[in-house]
Amino acid sequence: MADGWLFKLFLLMLLPPLTFSVSDSEALLQLKKFFTNSSALNSWVPSSVPCNKQTPWGGLLCHNGVVQGLRLEGMGLSGSIDVDALVEIKGLRSLSVINNSFQGVIPQLNRLGALKALFLSGNQFSGEIPPHFFTNMKSLKKVWLSHNKFIGGIPFSLGQLPHLIELHLENNQFSGHIPSFDRPNLKSINLSNNRLGGEIPISLSNFSANSFAGNPGLCGKILGVNCTKPVQNTAKLVTNQKRVVGKSGKKLTPKIIVALITLGVMLVFVIILAAMRWMKKKKKKGPNGPTTSSEGAIEVQVSVPTAKEEEVNRKRSGSSSRKGSGLVKGGGGAAELVMVNDEKGSFGLTELMKAAAEVLGNGELGYCYKVTMANEVPVVVKRMRDMNALGKDEFHKQVKQFGNLRHPNILTPLAYHYRREEKLLVYQYLPNGCLLYQLHGEHDTSHVGLDWPARLKIVQGIAKGLDYLHTELASLDVPHGNLKSSNVLLGPDNHPFLSDYGFCSLVNTDRVEALFAYKTPDVIQHGNVSPKSDVYCLGIVILEILTGRFPSQYLNDGNRGTDVVQWAESAFAESRQAEMLDPEITSSQNSSLANMEKLLHIGLLCTQTSVETRLEIKEALRMIEEVKVEEGPPLDISIE
Ligand SMILES: *[C@@H]1O[C@H](CO)[C@@H](O)[C@H](O)[C@H]1NC(C)=O
Ligand SMILES: *[C@@H]1O[C@H](CO)[C@@H](O)[C@H](O)[C@H]1NC(C)=O
Ligand SMILES: *[C@@H]1O[C@H](CO)[C@@H](O)[C@H](O)[C@H]1NC(C)=O
Ligand SMILES: *[C@@H]1O[C@H](CO)[C@@H](O)[C@H](O)[C@H]1NC(C)=O
Ligand SMILES: *[C@@H]1O[C@H](CO)[C@@H](O)[C@H](O)[C@H]1NC(C)=O
Repeated sequence: MADGWLFKLFLLMLLPPLTFSVSDSEALLQLKKFFTNSSALNSWVPSSVPCNKQTPWGGLLCHNGVVQGLRLEGMGLSGSIDVDALVEIKGLRSLSVINNSFQGVIPQLNRLGALKALFLSGNQFSGEIPPHFFTNMKSLKKVWLSHNKFIGGIPFSLGQLPHLIELHLENNQFSGHIPSFDRPNLKSINLSNNRLGGEIPISLSNFSANSFAGNPGLCGKILGVNCTKPVQNTAKLVTNQKRVVGKSGKKLTPKIIVALITLGVMLVFVIILAAMRWMKKKKKKGPNGPTTSSEGAIEVQVSVPTAKEEEVNRKRSGSSSRKGSGLVKGGGGAAELVMVNDEKGSFGLTELMKAAAEVLGNGELGYCYKVTMANEVPVVVKRMRDMNALGKDEFHKQVKQFGNLRHPNILTPLAYHYRREEKLLVYQYLPNGCLLYQLHGEHDTSHVGLDWPARLKIVQGIAKGLDYLHTELASLDVPHGNLKSSNVLLGPDNHPFLSDYGFCSLVNTDRVEALFAYKTPDVIQHGNVSPKSDVYCLGIVILEILTGRFPSQYLNDGNRGTDVVQWAESAFAESRQAEMLDPEITSSQNSSLANMEKLLHIGLLCTQTSVETRLEIKEALRMIEEVKVEEGPPLDISIE
């Protein structure tokens, strides 16, 4: 007895120095578990210490018995990189997985804030890297992402790393402009063989041409390619527009290029003049009379290079593209902003391009920007990829239908811009951001959380908006299709608005799984969505709002977040549902506990796996509206 006690005490005293290596070992074994082909890591076994002197585990860089680096290069590894495990390796400063077979979007390695070197080259990583990805990785000195399949813009946060020395991004599919790199320490940079465009920033003018080769859209003194003025204006939102190889794939000779550029500049000039005259005319008609076409779409002709490019392509291929729908007015105007709702005034693409843009976020389908126009009206611009399910005319009809929706809980689009490669959707900007951020975002101390009355009001607003969509967009397979807390925006007084609805009709069929409704059990079990899939999504939001937990259902990997559905099922089975409620709402609202639990129960009924037992939207709405903030006034204040 006494011996055992002494032994424990002895262990306790020993613990502090031991903890590091113990957790390193556990973390590494955990990391190995998620690799699918880890035969190269046979030396990683529980019975030995990772950094032992005689036979250290393979691929480790150790210092004084602490793991400082992982060098897992050319080991045939695939599967996933468990960042949770990496976070546990407190001494980790460098990570290399060069020349393996990892796939998918970049792992959340930005949780490793102390990393000095990150080498991901020679894998199959794909997708966009969020613009802010590197913001919290201030220690980074070397970043190698070359020879992967990354797309989208080069994250501007890379350009802001204070200690960056080496940057290798070659042989990917990065597009857009090069952000500025005002970093004196930068010794080597390689951006070659991507799809970058625009002018090479002055801050990089000391590097040689072979840091930039293989990007047909780039221009600048280093490459000996003159940059034409109009291109710069469009820097903020439209990317990818300067391709020198035509659609037919034939290489253009320098002579033709010069001719094209001249033609382009002239065209842009003419169009700007036309637009200015048009604006003047419009002003004369008075502020309340915007000109509308027979279909009610306001047309604005704008000069972006794409118009030029498409015009050129059209001429070259000799086919005259259809000018259906009356959207294309005059010559060359393939790129205009079409207003579908002018309640907030009307504006053109030029105005949008000239305005200052700020990245708000990055979703699975594209980026989201806040743009503040000259008239001080801020709007949200969503740059959407993979939205080619409908041709131009049908796309117009569909978005126009969305533009006609009017409901206090529905955010109606204001305008869109259609190009084959991407679409811009413009919405009113709401100052309180999205519900997701309000619930789980990092807040400063002045942040006022959402109390129970606010949360109930939000749920009720969401349900009303959803019910309205189910009436108005009844012809769609799933009227909202993407209901989750990041698509619930909060206006003044936390009034909720639904956005990003109806996308199931717009998104390419092979990309619909990016929409949350397509991640419900309905698709996994029955292979199809239905309007009731929206109800399931509503249930998830209800459980999220009441628990304050981030639902694992939002993520594909299921490793992070809380499985709120499973939790609700077991909590109700064991009558422990009160434990689910977010302490932030229960602490001050004891008299409302029963109502909170009632709403929790509705959340459970909305997330039934079986479509048959799941609530209908009308039923759900009725029940949600019956929930009250309080039980009624307490009888006597002095009695508990
Ligand atoms: C698995 O790893 C071994 C050893 O590194 C490698 O030779 C093999 O090609 C890998 N297999 C696959 C399917 O990647
Ligand atoms: C990765 O593979 C490439 C091509 O096979 C090779 O040139 C390079 O040296 C390898 N890099 C490392 C760090 O193994
Ligand atoms: C380029 O290099 C020259 C000479 O090394 C130096 O004077 C100049 O400031 C550098 N310019 C930039 C933009 O770094
Ligand atoms: C950049 O990468 C390309 C392709 O791998 C290579 O040909 C070129 O020499 C590299 N340039 C520099 C400056 O490292
Ligand atoms: C670029 O433009 C300048 C004048 O603006 C001209 O002198 C020069 O020759 C041009 N260079 C190329 C490569 O076309």
